[in-house]
Amino acid sequence: MAIIALKCPEIEVAVVDISAPRINAWNSDQLPIYEPGLDDVVKQCRGKNLFFSTEVEKHVCEADIVFVSVNTPTKTQGLGAGKAADLTYWESAARMIADVSKSSKIVVEKSTVPVKTAEAIERILSHNSKGINFQILSNPEFLAEGTAVEDLLKPDRVLIGGRETPEGNKAVKALKDVYAHWVPEDRILCANLWSAELSKLAANAFLAQRISSVNAMSALCEATGADVTEVSHAVGKDTRIGPKFLNASVGFGGSCFQKDILNLVYICECNGLPEVAHYWKQVIIMNDYQKNRFVNRVVSSMFNTVANKKIAILGFAFKKDTGDTRETPAIDVCNGLLGDKAQLSIYDPQVSEAQIQKDLSMQKFDWDHPAHLQPSGPIDLKQVSVVRDAYTATKDAHAVCILTEWDEFKNLDYQKIYDNMQKPAFIFDGRNVIDVAKVRKMGFIVYSIGKQLDEFLKDMPAVA
Ligand code: UDX
Repeated sequence: MAIIALKCPEIEVAVVDISAPRINAWNSDQLPIYEPGLDDVVKQCRGKNLFFSTEVEKHVCEADIVFVSVNTPTKTQGLGAGKAADLTYWESAARMIADVSKSSKIVVEKSTVPVKTAEAIERILSHNSKGINFQILSNPEFLAEGTAVEDLLKPDRVLIGGRETPEGNKAVKALKDVYAHWVPEDRILCANLWSAELSKLAANAFLAQRISSVNAMSALCEATGADVTEVSHAVGKDTRIGPKFLNASVGFGGSCFQKDILNLVYICECNGLPEVAHYWKQVIIMNDYQKNRFVNRVVSSMFNTVANKKIAILGFAFKKDTGDTRETPAIDVCNGLLGDKAQLSIYDPQVSEAQIQKDLSMQKFDWDHPAHLQPSGPIDLKQVSVVRDAYTATKDAHAVCILTEWDEFKNLDYQKIYDNMQKPAFIFDGRNVIDVAKVRKMGFIVYSIGKQLDEFLKDMPAVA
């Protein structure tokens, strides 16, 4: 929304939320999310044509176009639990829009939603509309965190789905005109509603599938002595495949991939397509396997026990350049190590202690609900300490686990770290950021995803 305000000075953008603390933060100097470049954009537009407000109904009533970006968490109970998207928040937003509207509106689905959500929303709106015309559009967001501003300024594509009727076409054109302020016309794709909704799930599934594919290869590389970086480089040189999204890792995280694939799986099952559902489910199974495999490597390498051993965790965010921890692989890895009674000392340049404590005590999928429905406060986990730099985290540690690829982890003084650790000193690099040969020479026992195994680790079982 901030980019729309920046690029369309004649359009007034009001961002509304029922949470006063959240809106206050957006109106302060300390924005509630960390995203490179976003501060500048907000500062340029805030108070001019970009406003943050808790007056939800007033602004919705006044708007011509309403973008709905509410949470669509994975259901934890009832029909489709663990897979289907929970549309409670979407439904109440639609009912509120119908209640307060006095003029025709375009309602845009921004949240990623199951295919055919628009149809349900359309029914809610039209049954409560008092004769007002609502046009539903699907305009899925493809930005990635950490590069959000850049992705929005120069998108690969903007996708707009609408009804194939004269009113639907008119609504699509109205939204297209907004994006046309800065996006070249050939990058604005128009489609029918269902194609647009499905394209978002499909794009995320394809991206996640690439990571699970290279992660599957990483296990085979470790077993055979191949190097996954060399394999993915060779594979990615094929112009039909391309080099992006082929970095082996401890597993993918983030608010979208797992959730969207689970959702896709559920939709396939509901449409009588179990083989298709099974195919996509395997992407998630492989991701869980990769995280488990990492924990098993740590425990089995350290003489089959990490009980009471200090393990430094470098990085907790789901990827670098963000403070976001939603579905971060660090949660599963830390919980795995805690289950084996390890003492964790965690450092991440952007994630707060309160967030880490909360993440390690929350149930799966709880993060996607509003704050008041999440656990009330951080639970103090005795086995976990959160520290402010990598050297404190690693001091007297038995092992270091790198779980996020922050640039600063590439340039740490590993000799100093080694000197201050217990011996034998282990490094488990879940992001392939360190120079394996260099740190091995210092005396570290090194495990790096998909790389040739250290002599010391060769006879240890990969799967406990
Ligand atoms: C993703 C999609 O990229 C974006 O288009 C969509 O709108 C939202 O979901 P995001 O979750 O912000 O964006 O992050 P992304 O950069 O896609 O990374 C997702 C996860 O995959 C991260 O944990 C990342 O570390 C991991 N990853 C990515 C790998 O493990 N290897 C890779 O090669 C690339």
